[in-house]
Amino acid sequence: KPAVRLALLGCGTVGTEVVRLLHEQAEDLTARIGAPLELVGIAVRRPGRQRGGAIDPALFTTDALGLVKRDDVDVVIEVVGGIDPARSWLIEALSAGKSVVTANKALLAEDGATLHDAAAEGNADLYFEAAVAGAIPLLRPLRESLHGDRVTRVTGIVNGTTNFILSSMDATGAGFGEALDEATELGYAEADPTADVEGFDAAAKAAILASLAFHTRVTAADVFREGMTGVTAADVASAKEMGCTIKLLCIAQRGPDSTGNESVSVRVHPAMIPRSHPLASVGDAFNAVFVEAEAAGQLMFYGRGAGGTPTASAVLGDIVAAARNRLSGTRAPSESSYAHLPIRPIGEA
Ligand code: HSE
Repeated sequence: KPAVRLALLGCGTVGTEVVRLLHEQAEDLTARIGAPLELVGIAVRRPGRQRGGAIDPALFTTDALGLVKRDDVDVVIEVVGGIDPARSWLIEALSAGKSVVTANKALLAEDGATLHDAAAEGNADLYFEAAVAGAIPLLRPLRESLHGDRVTRVTGIVNGTTNFILSSMDATGAGFGEALDEATELGYAEADPTADVEGFDAAAKAAILASLAFHTRVTAADVFREGMTGVTAADVASAKEMGCTIKLLCIAQRGPDSTGNESVSVRVHPAMIPRSHPLASVGDAFNAVFVEAEAAGQLMFYGRGAGGTPTASAVLGDIVAAARNRLSGTRAPSESSYAHLPIRPIGEA
């Protein structure tokens, strides 16, 4: 069979790992898909930058839009992040019928509707397993495996940086500042940790999870958000005395609101949880998501939610799905079946 042709947008921590895995596992991937994968171009801002590993320099281009528009490209993989210009590249790809694999949680949480509409218009598929909780297979179970069930609540630790900080405060009695410094030194926290510690990153992920779990459209702006910079060593100590620990949780639930109408509420805030709860034992920079569904009961998904290699694992899984579906003419699940559940106003539990 002819090769499935890939274009990669972005070649940072995740992108370099995607390229490495595509090379290292080429033989297995070809056998699994039934056709080879061929990387035809990589769009980057600085082609001369050192990127560990041997990437053929001829693949680099600074013209992302030009690469997306190439007729010989079947699948566009976006690991750049941010709203623009990623949005315009992905709209272009989807409207032209190309499959898109993206890890861009900010874009999906702010304007996923536009991407889903472009996919519908172009008869194209949008895959985004890597956008939430890195390596953990989570969106596909919500999107596919649980589709015969009714999810009632999703409770998650979806930000590794803040989980590292809170776990360290719990273990050592350190204050927020000291624990943040440790996280920065060890490379867990970014130079500007605002998106993590103020809960923006978790709120974006919560919006994506709630949309899939409840088959509705939730954006980041619908999510009540409180960061964890106000959690003190004293708070952690008194939680401990009560047999609890403090975690930054995302909580998405559906159920009747105060007037009895079925609706959805989504929030991110620090919360005390009993040490006996499965989420209490999630330490270090790990992520975990606890899903409750009417028939399935309680499910827990646990693993590495960040980092180049774990995130690349999820991207590769989506590339394989995209390639297989293109070859067999099968469509991935789409969001055309969205119901329009009302979102409970911010602040109403
Ligand atoms: N900053 C994020 C985290 C990276 O700490 O979990 C993954 O989205």
